[in-house]
Amino acid sequence: MKILFLDQSGKLGGAELSLTDVAKSYRENCLVGLFADGPFRELLEQEQIPVQVLATEQIQVSKDSNILQSLVSISSIAPLITRVAKIAHHYDLIYANTQKALVIGALASFLRRRPLVYHLRDILSADHFSATNRRIAVTLANRFASLVITNSEATKAAFIEAGGRSNIVEVVYNGFEPEKYLAQESNYNQIRQQLGLDEQFVVGHFSRLSPWKGQHILLEALVHCPDDVTAIFVGDALFGEQDYVEHLHQQVAKLGLKERVQFLGFRSDVVPLMSACDLIAHTSTAPEPFGRVIVEAMLCGRPVVAAEAGGAIELVETGKTGWLVPPGNPQQLAEIITTCRHQPEATMMIANQAKDIATQRFDLSNINQELAQLLGCI
Ligand code: UDP
Ligand code: GLC
Repeated sequence: MKILFLDQSGKLGGAELSLTDVAKSYRENCLVGLFADGPFRELLEQEQIPVQVLATEQIQVSKDSNILQSLVSISSIAPLITRVAKIAHHYDLIYANTQKALVIGALASFLRRRPLVYHLRDILSADHFSATNRRIAVTLANRFASLVITNSEATKAAFIEAGGRSNIVEVVYNGFEPEKYLAQESNYNQIRQQLGLDEQFVVGHFSRLSPWKGQHILLEALVHCPDDVTAIFVGDALFGEQDYVEHLHQQVAKLGLKERVQFLGFRSDVVPLMSACDLIAHTSTAPEPFGRVIVEAMLCGRPVVAAEAGGAIELVETGKTGWLVPPGNPQQLAEIITTCRHQPEATMMIANQAKDIATQRFDLSNINQELAQLLGCI
């Protein structure tokens, strides 16, 4: 089966990292079409996955745009639809990985009479999308998609709640290659030394800097933790959230946390950095659709505390594979951090248990097989 994958972004978000893992199985028979250039294209080339940048200008469909803005933007994307429809002639299936890819992919699939698969990685709720954009996504998926793959039960439930057809949805979790996450003790010491954190209890936060990812919640929690608890923030503002970055730096200064916080920016060496942490915190204030960082922490053998909403609830079981705390609650987060700080053995037992379970549950080859079976039925 020849697949034309479509993704709106040139950046490396979770949706793009996951698509790379999916497309690997089809590298002989696929093309990934991007609507923007950037490090995602470089990663695909590195992985020897055929890729083509199909548009160089940003398409103006923002998360909160209204119907008028959306229609205006659709007229500006007409050439892209034509281009995708032309390319789709050489493929059996169009696989849209993001919302804007769905808009283009749906129309191209109609013009070219190719089946459409929509990999839905967002929770279609008011927390994340305007009513207009929810309606557009659901209408296009219902009308044009033969299959909607969601990255969690939570994403599936939100799709149905927003009016999506339940008979076209299947849940497929993100897959991972466990061998890529094997921690090395030498990394642990070396990185902690480099960061000047030898003696500290290090809480790692790995996510793009964005208000709903809740980095500010971890900062607030630090104030309620013992003094030797420090935090490293790995990730950058990927989608223009510079105001939030500014806000975080002000918050650090205001709370007197300068000595206990480091912002490391976007890093491609997430595994060694995670392995150098004593605990990984996930703090999204709105429901996380899946949350790759949670599984990655588990595979690195690091304990994880996550916000109890969305897909995170399907990944973490409190006291067995980590801890869940109510979203946006710095006090309860601080309590868990402090418990982990004081009970290293019990904490590591949970981390080891989570590692075993995650290794089985999210194995990439099994997940890609599941996907292949679903695609084979179209
Ligand atoms: N990530 C990365 N470098 C960074 C920060 C994050 O490579 O500096 C990766 C992280 O390891 C994870 C992905 O970006 O695989 C984020 O995916 P997730 O599902 O957690 O959240 P998203 O940003 O897609 O909502
Ligand atoms: C999206 C979601 C994230 C998920 C990722 C991979 O970026 O925000 O929660 O883990 O897709 O499916």
